[in-house]
Amino acid sequence: MDGLRDVVVAETVLSDVDGVAGRLVIRGHSLDELAGRAPFEQACHLLLDGMLPGLPEAGQMRGRLGAARAQAFAEVAALDPQLRRRPPLDVVRALMARLPDGDDVDVALRLLVSPAVFAPAAIRASRGLEPMAPDPALGHAADMLRMLKGAAPAPAEAAALDAYLVTIIDHGLNASTFAARVTASTLAGLTSAALAGISALKGPLHGGAPGPVIDMLDGVGTPANATAWLEAALDRGDRLMGFGHGVYRVRDPRADALKRTVQTLAGASSELPGRLKLAEAVEAAALDILKRRKPDRPLNTNVEFYTAVLLEALGFPHEAFTCVFASGRVAGWIAHAREQVLSGRLIRPSSRYVGPVPREAA
Ligand code: ACO
Repeated sequence: MDGLRDVVVAETVLSDVDGVAGRLVIRGHSLDELAGRAPFEQACHLLLDGMLPGLPEAGQMRGRLGAARAQAFAEVAALDPQLRRRPPLDVVRALMARLPDGDDVDVALRLLVSPAVFAPAAIRASRGLEPMAPDPALGHAADMLRMLKGAAPAPAEAAALDAYLVTIIDHGLNASTFAARVTASTLAGLTSAALAGISALKGPLHGGAPGPVIDMLDGVGTPANATAWLEAALDRGDRLMGFGHGVYRVRDPRADALKRTVQTLAGASSELPGRLKLAEAVEAAALDILKRRKPDRPLNTNVEFYTAVLLEALGFPHEAFTCVFASGRVAGWIAHAREQVLSGRLIRPSSRYVGPVPREAA
């Protein structure tokens, strides 16, 4: 029962997480085959193929997602002064809730692009800047960065964001995907399922960790300070953000994929190499300390650690990192929601009552 660990509650063709071997398979492809090689649009097609009647051909996905971004952008007009003051994830979720619900391809594609359109608008609004309309002709990742920065990104930056979005696109029955599947199983519709997903993603034990990773790196400050800072954090009872995982008992393969992406990006940056060096020192110290303090519990680097370094380097503020996570994972939520509708039934587990019994039954 304990957090439903190891309980199989769905059959899926979408992704397989092997926590012992440290392997992630997405629809028959290893993560290494996809991350940094397939653009986000192609990975979305791979996940949704056969799940969504009317799904565009793979070659048309880029154009259709561009058109969907332009449609979704209409909702940004609802960003009123009150909403502008809320955290970016709350803004993205509120704007997503404005999208029509349903199960058809138009609903699905607009939903698929919506966090990537709403997150830059929310970030710009928090800085007092007007939102940038999408450019439907661009690739999805390049346009997301353009909407954030107000100018076309360098190709290396667009490629790095593309690699990130594909790396985190789907990951078995994680908490947010399970929440999306439960909601989809009631036939509530894809928008409702994605809203359940993004709400579950928000928590620091799931998708909310990379922001605190930046706080940790800033707190450590220099590589020489890593061990003392981390020991003090654990002495206070804190968890080290970016380490440990509910399924992986070895290193999270996505951590390696993202570290490679950061290393590639660092080649074209003046500031990133120093940040990467600090992150590597913190990672090495954390692994050493966790091994010593928790010898019975393998705790390794998870996806969130290098996510933080990468998204910071791409110019996203740390309070919006979870929105960028949602921009990739939304494809997984939609694919799982459709799979649940096509092949599952209402998810309705049981609980065991352990409370007081009525007097007459005692
Ligand atoms: N730092 C310090 N100790 C840890 C950490 C950590 N990051 N992770 C787990 N532990 C310890 C726990 O304190 C616990 O110790 P105890 O048995 O002495 O109480 C033991 O390891 C087991 O912890 P659980 O919470 O049972 O492990 P679980 O597998 O359920 O948790 C989780 C996984 C939530 C990710 C956890 O490792 C954690 O809190 N990590 C930090 C937050 C984080 O990085 N979240 C992102 C996860 S990746 C993702 O969802 C996309």
